[in-house]
Amino acid sequence: MSETQTKFFGHDARLKDIISVKDKLSQEYHDEVMEKIFARSWFLLANVNDIPVDGYIAYDVPTFKTSVILTRGKDGSVRAFHNVCRHRGKKVVSTKCGWGSGQGSRLTCWFHGWTYGQDGRLLVVPDERAFVDLDKAKLGLVPVRSEIWSNLIFVNFSEDEPQPLREWLGELSEGFEGYYSEMEKIGTFVADVDANWNFAMDGFSEGYHTVFLHRNTQPELAGKDNPMRHQPVVDIYEKHVRSSNAANPDYLGPPAERLLYAQGRKLSPAVETDLSSLPQGVNRTRSQPWFFDVIWLFPNMAILNGPHWVSTLTIWPIAKDRTRLVTDHYAKKARHAGDRLAQAYTRGLLVSVTREDLAALEEVQAGLESGAIDDLYVSRQEFVIQKRYALINSMLEKA
Ligand code: FES
Ligand SMILES: [Fe+2]
Repeated sequence: MSETQTKFFGHDARLKDIISVKDKLSQEYHDEVMEKIFARSWFLLANVNDIPVDGYIAYDVPTFKTSVILTRGKDGSVRAFHNVCRHRGKKVVSTKCGWGSGQGSRLTCWFHGWTYGQDGRLLVVPDERAFVDLDKAKLGLVPVRSEIWSNLIFVNFSEDEPQPLREWLGELSEGFEGYYSEMEKIGTFVADVDANWNFAMDGFSEGYHTVFLHRNTQPELAGKDNPMRHQPVVDIYEKHVRSSNAANPDYLGPPAERLLYAQGRKLSPAVETDLSSLPQGVNRTRSQPWFFDVIWLFPNMAILNGPHWVSTLTIWPIAKDRTRLVTDHYAKKARHAGDRLAQAYTRGLLVSVTREDLAALEEVQAGLESGAIDDLYVSRQEFVIQKRYALINSMLEKA
């Protein structure tokens, strides 16, 4: 049987098949990665559509021990602020489940009622005359550097002026016009796990595992001509990677899935053969049979681009052995109840799949912490893992 051959575009001479792990478990390595890489990177936080019009949303960002408010004005303006009240430091928008949102032009901190505008200005201080020398003009919410690319909001916590977002995205910045602005969030899954962020990223950086780990939740994804689910097209860029994932052209899915996807747009893992609505940056070679693309954004994000759906994944390091995983699932705006049913189905399925990933990665962490093995052996189908470690090594100026 002939295997699907992967076409690699771009080249990185630093890729290695053997990756040492001992150093990756140390506190020194973790601290250095946080300081030299995370402190300067851009992070995808939300789609503009996630924020209510004339409202706000707040997300916790555990890596930077902060929480970020995103506001969206009636005029479409989007702004980002630290979610920290200037009075005594409480979160202005409570994020008990990791996020919180609301509608309205004012944001009130419900500790003592200090109230801010969508532009971050401090508008109201109850009992203001009891304060001595309070200058409201100087006590607006503290801004967070943010930029928007193709309707996606990125933030950067660098103390110095960072590389502009489009430059940081490089070749990926073109070819997605209108695509993400059509997408609405249909579900979120957040979990904190006992694992190092690098090993967590590894677990989401290849399709090799899907044949085995997801054999029950996602059977039949591999076509008979491509049993190991090799990716037909891989673009390796300076920092980031894009790949196209092949579908099983004979995929039918279980009866309930077939029924639901017949009522609405086909979402993951159904196979869509009509590629006419895709922008140029998604399945750029128009390969068939096509399932979805993945963009791996260095250092800790992945965006899965499907025909009518998008999923985003962010791996936030909390400590060297603790990580938060945030997955957001999106689909094109529902037209009717059939689309809603299809969305509910895919949302449930994707959570089940992600739980399997989480269970595996805590076992990886335990295995590596045991000290029984020194190295990881990775194949060319695990190129994203090779690429990330190579880039980190070069940024840390290690061999
Ligand atoms: S801490 Fe926000 S009003 Fe007091
Ligand atoms: Fe997985």
